[in-house]
Amino acid sequence: MARPEAPARAGAALRKRYRATDVGVFTRDEASRFVPRGGADPHDDIVLAWELLYRLEPELYDRLATAERLHPGVVGWLPRGVSRIAEVGAGTGRLTMELIERGREIVAVEPAQPLRRILRGKLAAAAHGDRVRVIPGFFDKLPLPDGYADLVVACSAFTPSPGHGGEAGLSEMERVCRPAGLVAIIWPNHLDWLAARGYSYVSFPGPMSVEFGSHDEAVELAEIFFPRAAGEVRRRGSRQVPFEVLGINPPRDLAFKVLAG
Ligand SMILES: C[S@@+](CC[C@H](N)C(=O)[O-])C[C@H]1O[C@@H](n2cnc3c(N)ncnc32)[C@H](O)[C@@H]1O
Repeated sequence: MARPEAPARAGAALRKRYRATDVGVFTRDEASRFVPRGGADPHDDIVLAWELLYRLEPELYDRLATAERLHPGVVGWLPRGVSRIAEVGAGTGRLTMELIERGREIVAVEPAQPLRRILRGKLAAAAHGDRVRVIPGFFDKLPLPDGYADLVVACSAFTPSPGHGGEAGLSEMERVCRPAGLVAIIWPNHLDWLAARGYSYVSFPGPMSVEFGSHDEAVELAEIFFPRAAGEVRRRGSRQVPFEVLGINPPRDLAFKVLAG
């Protein structure tokens, strides 16, 4: 997952979209995780800018996430026919919508209210969408009982930093997973950090492109999210843009751990 661990000064165009006063959009629980020392400015902090995007322009975020499809091997690798799944940091449902057919009961935990709203809308329109319950919550304090799920998963959401998971978040994911169940971190960063905590790694090969809705959308979103690649995206004239052109690693991998039985 390229974003939340990107260097603070990366993502200039996204950082410039928001102002320091915008942090007022955070709830108290969100502020304690995303601006723990107060006084943070999204102009200097790309991780903070992403959190503001989720709350101030959730549809814009959803357009990007919809274009950045997961490698089918990643979804295919996850277990099917399980009784309960917990997903943390579900966003607008890039993975959640794929989980509907893999579990009988799915809980999607997502802190950002605007993203929950979009996800609920998608579920209402989907076959068997009522299998998914969307609830607020954070990695480090999951509102689920011990051993709740057969599969506990996060996609492009978990990082080792305390505000976005960290030690407390990983141990919470393992707490809500049943004995012999599976914890999976999709599109991981910091593989060494996860390996040191007993996580194995799998990656699926093949070319991958971001599939924007149109060439116009590719240019528009590249100017915001991948400004250094925007000229090349415009020149190519296609709605499909290889991940390497945009300078991000594709969502083709996951780290996982099967808990002791
Ligand atoms: C890059 S988005 C990924 C969303 C979705 N999983 C996807 O793949 O499209 C990161 C998500 O993590 C959520 N998130 C950020 N901090 C979190 C935390 N401490 N606990 C749980 N979720 C968090 C954000 O609200 C956002 O929905």
